[in-house]
Amino acid sequence: NLQVDALKSITKIEPTMYGVFFEDINFAADGGLYAEMIKNRSFEFETPMMGWNEPNSDRHKLNLQSGIANIIQYSQKGTNHNYCRVTINDASGYEMINEGFRGMGIKKDLKYNLSLKASKVSGDISKIKIQFIDKNKKVLGETSIVPTSKDWTNYTAQLTVTATEAKAQIRITFEGTGVIDLDAISLFPEDTWKGRKNGMRADLVQLLYDLKPGFLRFPGGCIVEGKTLALRYQWKKSIGNVEDRETMINRWNTEFAHKLAPDYFQSFGLGFFEYFQLAEDIGASPLPILSCGMACQFNTGELVPMDQIDPYVQDALDLIEFANGDQTTAWGKVRSDMGHPKPFNLKHIGVGNEQWGPDYIERFKVFQKAIKAKYPNIIIVSGTGPYPDGDYFDYGMAELKKLNAEIVDEHYYKDPAWFRKNVTRYDNYDRKGPKIFAGEYAAQSVAIASPDNKNNWECAFSEAAFMTGMERNAEVVHLTSYAPLLAHVEGWQWTPDMIWFNNLQSYGTPNYYVQKLFSNNKGTDLINITKDGKAVTGQNDLFASAVKDLNSKEVILKIVNAAATTQNVSIDVKGAKLDSKGTAITLKGDGINDENSFEAPTKISPKESEFKVNGGKIQYDFPAYSVTVLKIKMK
Ligand code: AHR
Repeated sequence: NLQVDALKSITKIEPTMYGVFFEDINFAADGGLYAEMIKNRSFEFETPMMGWNEPNSDRHKLNLQSGIANIIQYSQKGTNHNYCRVTINDASGYEMINEGFRGMGIKKDLKYNLSLKASKVSGDISKIKIQFIDKNKKVLGETSIVPTSKDWTNYTAQLTVTATEAKAQIRITFEGTGVIDLDAISLFPEDTWKGRKNGMRADLVQLLYDLKPGFLRFPGGCIVEGKTLALRYQWKKSIGNVEDRETMINRWNTEFAHKLAPDYFQSFGLGFFEYFQLAEDIGASPLPILSCGMACQFNTGELVPMDQIDPYVQDALDLIEFANGDQTTAWGKVRSDMGHPKPFNLKHIGVGNEQWGPDYIERFKVFQKAIKAKYPNIIIVSGTGPYPDGDYFDYGMAELKKLNAEIVDEHYYKDPAWFRKNVTRYDNYDRKGPKIFAGEYAAQSVAIASPDNKNNWECAFSEAAFMTGMERNAEVVHLTSYAPLLAHVEGWQWTPDMIWFNNLQSYGTPNYYVQKLFSNNKGTDLINITKDGKAVTGQNDLFASAVKDLNSKEVILKIVNAAATTQNVSIDVKGAKLDSKGTAITLKGDGINDENSFEAPTKISPKESEFKVNGGKIQYDFPAYSVTVLKIKMK
């Protein structure tokens, strides 16, 4: 028997309670959310022709070459260092192919927007033909450009696709002979989210939008920190003209990745302006995390000397101005000139990702002092390191409390049983201490980031059990997010992940639907649900939390049955007059190992039904291994 007190509001549920954590890992940005289809569009990868092939060109037989592409550096300075010089001796025999990110997904009848920069050097190349081809070189759409000038000129064209194909490539051929320089060869589908140029994959954004996330954390993860300080994420390099954003090796390129991806670079086409815009589009509060002057402690752990930390702190101050400043401010004007005159309404900023120890505290203090002096209302998120156990965690928490830190970011990648066992983790957290951002968590079916991990149902319902504990402690826990968010099925380095995609399709895992259930039903006020006067934290394998929503006028109960059998439970709701029926939303799998897949993307997804309420009393059968949300209107 469970008792619910619908009268007393224990605490408000923060609007940020359930959000999303975005990191460019697993091809989440380039090759994923960022809809650019050309890999290495500006020839800036470490191996500048990576992603490009010239199948008919024999580089060793000078006299036999029908054509050849060479990389030329503009200069070592600047941000766009290279371009490609193509020499055509016999146009009939030469082609350049771009392989895309594990191929290109193209859809029948959809239009694709191409742009490139070209400069005619000598001879007369009269036409550049651009075609989608399949693996048998069948043409699936084409267009052409007539280059006219010796000066660098931007050209645009459109291709319409004749057949859907998941592994298309782009072929570029030429008419005439001579030498021509090419750069910034870019291709986007027309159906990006909101039809934006330089936009995002609509199916992936839709999945995020449907979560109704309270916040969007970006750009990571370890990617914030970099293997070295030079390779940290620098937001100022990710804004402005897309072509001028300097390509950088992705931290998940090789080392410390569980699957190697030597072709993993960051174009920064998805940069800070786009992240802020995405947050706005999906109704989420933006939560950027910045380098605190410490490279990833799992890599070099390089530290910026304390007398050289100012530029790092300045980056944080300038970012706040970029997000919130009006057009009379330097950085507010940059935002406005990029097309967003209105501020982005930034409320939180994170200092450091997973840093720990005295080096972190020393640096955090400097950021805290500077940010609070200029922007007292900005809430700062700090951290205690990757896994919130042990000495360094205790040390960090104690020091952060002394500093009146506002929010501490905790990460846990543990086995499913840990999540069920630790449902009371926040019950005894100091209500007067820092609030909690459970910034990265996911149940690992085998071991942390093991390539054999599965997004199975046991992991998902165990996370749901744990989430009832976070919700019950909404007074302390203000933000939570599953991690990582996105993974390309042929380009991942870390598993499990919340959303899987290939070049054409995407699906939410059972973990996604757990997040969606909680986020879509977060309510406005926490209320008590108890068994014999105690919180429901695993007695008989049942876990529960309850909220009411003062806007929709509903009582909302979340119940996880982690037992192998159905449990019949009576629930007595007091303190509110309830409707005589309610809506149940049930999530369950066919056993604990069940999963979603491209073939059955919604196999485990919420199903709605009705149930009876009799004078506030409910008698309900909770299926084996299930997560159920019960919603009842208050009269
Ligand atoms: O989510 C994957 C990685 O796990 C993140 O980059 C890092 O913060 C954590 O260690």
